[in-house]
Amino acid sequence: MKKRASNEPATPVVADVNPVLELAKKQLEQMIDLNPDIIMLIDNSGRIMRVNKAFMIFAGSSDYKSVLGHNVTEIFNVRRKSALEKLISGESKAHSIECEANITGGATKNLLFIAVTGEKKSDLKVVLVKDITEEKATGRRLEKKLKMQAVEELTGALMHSINQPLTVITVEAQLMGMAIQRDKIIPEEFQRSLADIAEKSLEIAATLQKAQSPVDYQTQQYSETVNIVDLTRTYRSSSFFDIECPEAIDITYEALAMHDATALRHAQMCGKVSALIAEAMGIDGEKAATIKRCGTLHDIGKICIPDIILQKPAALSAEEKKTMMKHPDLGSRLLQKLTGFEIEAKVALSHHEFFNGQGYPHGLRGADIPIEARIVAVADVFDAMANSRHYHTATPQAEVIEYIIKNADTQFDPLVVKAFKSTLDDIKRLYTGLLS
Ligand SMILES: [Fe+2]
Repeated sequence: MKKRASNEPATPVVADVNPVLELAKKQLEQMIDLNPDIIMLIDNSGRIMRVNKAFMIFAGSSDYKSVLGHNVTEIFNVRRKSALEKLISGESKAHSIECEANITGGATKNLLFIAVTGEKKSDLKVVLVKDITEEKATGRRLEKKLKMQAVEELTGALMHSINQPLTVITVEAQLMGMAIQRDKIIPEEFQRSLADIAEKSLEIAATLQKAQSPVDYQTQQYSETVNIVDLTRTYRSSSFFDIECPEAIDITYEALAMHDATALRHAQMCGKVSALIAEAMGIDGEKAATIKRCGTLHDIGKICIPDIILQKPAALSAEEKKTMMKHPDLGSRLLQKLTGFEIEAKVALSHHEFFNGQGYPHGLRGADIPIEARIVAVADVFDAMANSRHYHTATPQAEVIEYIIKNADTQFDPLVVKAFKSTLDDIKRLYTGLLS
């Protein structure tokens, strides 16, 4: 045996080190095998050199030879094949990609491929594959749940706080329109775009107005239990009212709503209250439908009243009152132009007549006033007093009812008031949204 020189380095004690390395290697292999995610060692051309047990479980095979040496894209039947090839070759800037893969049995899995590269391009790569099918499904469920919550909140917001922004939009758009008309200094193109904004704002305001009453919403189904308010369909719906009437009436009311934001809601409620009173009087069929239409259309003549009067937030002067009192005649003249709306035209003309002859425009008395107009007169006063308008705040419902009962035989037909009293429960349900 050669004797070692004193300055030679000591020979490592191989017999002591190898078992430690072997053990470490074994533990590392165990660790890799026990990892629930797939781990592959890939060479530069994308061939699989080593795989862990999770891979074999995923592949449903115990034969390593059927896997080793094959290309990754041969084993994983993924939809984004070229993206996976780029990730493995290092061409892709991304370090991971998500792919849908078809697996044995026809099922589809969502897989996340993560490439861990060495310092040199020639180094072997470690590719981890995570099955994220369940995570994705959970994410989708959560997303759907959050969207449903958002829709519910949005619907709630639309139902409860629509009046404020609506008023602001309407007023701003109208002010802008007035400013455009007055200010001729603005360049023509800018003026046109401002006019367009004003027009669009009014269009939005009109849309939102129609969505104020939940019963009038047009919705589309989002899921089994949640409907989304579809403002486009609501806006384009054939009629604001659940009555049959020509498109021209819708257009006229839309124009009126731009001048008086309360007009549409008032028209709808008058139609509905009139229908309830008519029903309580034993009126049904076509006559009842006509009375509902009369209630809805009675104020259409207000489209011809100037805004300065229509929107005045205070009591009208004697002169302004005179102008306002023209709306029955003007409305009647508009409705006369439509075939089949003769009764509606008469009601528009006489809905401000008093049973005792003290009303306007003709001072008709008792049975000379069409019965439809005597019904609409009660519905009109009930809704107008119980809700705030430009010129007055809302009167409590109980006081309005008292006023109507007190004025039976003077302002109102006592038989109509009797029917009104008998159907009060339904009218109250209508105003709380329990009846549509
Ligand atoms: Fe009126």
